[in-house]
Amino acid sequence: SKGAAMVTAVAYRLADQRRQITETLAEFNLTKDQLLEVKKRMREEIENGLGRKTHDSATVKMWPTFVRSTPDGTENGDFLALDLGGTNFRVLLVKIRTGKRRTVEMHHKIYAIPLEVMQGTGEELFDHIVHCISDFLDYMGMKNTRLPLGFTFSFPCMQKSLDEGILVTWTKGFKATDCEGEDVVGLLREAIKRREEFDLDVVAIVNDTVGTMMTCAYEDPNCEVGLIAGTGSNACYMEEMKNIETVEGDEGRMCVNMEWGAFGDNGCLDDFRTEFDRTVDEYSLHPGKQRYEKMCSGMYLGEIVRNILINLTKRGFLFRGQISEALKTRGIFETKFLSQIESDRLALLQVRSVLQHLGLDSTCDDSIIVKEVCGVVALRGAQLCGAGMAAVVDKIRENRGLDHMDLTVGVDGTLYKLHPHFAENMQKTVKELAPKCNVNFLLSEDGSGKGAALITAVDCRLCSQEQK
Ligand code: GLC
Repeated sequence: SKGAAMVTAVAYRLADQRRQITETLAEFNLTKDQLLEVKKRMREEIENGLGRKTHDSATVKMWPTFVRSTPDGTENGDFLALDLGGTNFRVLLVKIRTGKRRTVEMHHKIYAIPLEVMQGTGEELFDHIVHCISDFLDYMGMKNTRLPLGFTFSFPCMQKSLDEGILVTWTKGFKATDCEGEDVVGLLREAIKRREEFDLDVVAIVNDTVGTMMTCAYEDPNCEVGLIAGTGSNACYMEEMKNIETVEGDEGRMCVNMEWGAFGDNGCLDDFRTEFDRTVDEYSLHPGKQRYEKMCSGMYLGEIVRNILINLTKRGFLFRGQISEALKTRGIFETKFLSQIESDRLALLQVRSVLQHLGLDSTCDDSIIVKEVCGVVALRGAQLCGAGMAAVVDKIRENRGLDHMDLTVGVDGTLYKLHPHFAENMQKTVKELAPKCNVNFLLSEDGSGKGAALITAVDCRLCSQEQK
């Protein structure tokens, strides 16, 4: 009959639609062999970044940080810390006390950095930062004490000492003029001078990965790696001085800021990148840069999802084929929404209400597909991040000539903390790809701010010892 024929036609269309969606998403599934290949390539890029002759053309820069030892618990004093480059800008007062009971007491305030300041002039940016410090010192009643300051600045910096860092390139959502190629500590000191209101002693510039590692190392001396899975993605670890050919000296170890987000910028990940990755990159603030980061960090996962949804909508598989204004809006799928959509505790009805909140009218079928898209993109991100980490832990194990190694990785970042599956999938990948390492992931609460203070404290301790 005609009716039966129509039912068959609809069923056929749905099956075909399903097949096409599955096919589109299949590119995001990575096999163990592919992930091992990513691990291997990361290892090659690590060597290039460390090597004297290969460093200049390397993409993973492996910047020395001049942090040579983790805290030993004897650090003491009051420190100011700044944390710039993550989801929030914060100013912190950190009181570190040694003795029978080691304590770290923290006070902080969060400040917004308006988009026009992030992407305005460097002078405006640093004036704004100093304005926030001024507000904070008033709030704490500490305008008249000259405190040592640790500056967590989560961007690639070329360091020649602990208190000097030349910004190599902005990443993530920042693009202030006249900063690249400049010493960021100098820019901060000048802005403090311009304001003529208070004085501070800028002791250290610190990457957030390094701050995170140090914070965890304060609790667990086995912690020699720091990982951020947040707005951006990056790692640091304690490397043997003799392997860091870009700094003088062969004794002991130094923490290197890998800047692994730039992995793939030479095209070495192109065979894993999908058309959606290319689109996200093309329309981003820094096209062509941070390609690995763009596949596995919070600022971009949502953008990949959005581009897939646009594609599926154009093909008539979603939202009744209508591309809404909301779907055209860059950045709507923030980490917190991706996390909500994938939360197992949410019924599909609630997924629909999250989408509704974002301005996306969905049917029940739509919400199933959206959740599936979020799932594959986040899973691939976690696995890629895990493959990178597997390369790092195996490198450390080989450095020590060990057949088996226990070690701790300090981790921070919104994606790691908020997403319901990211941490678990990343850890699982590390276990699978680096079976000779037994890795303990330690969540660092407030890692970057506290860490900057700890690094400042270690330096102050060493300086005062030298003076004695
Ligand atoms: C970006 C920055 C890097 C930072 C990471 C995490 O990759 O370049 O310095 O550590 O984001 O915030």
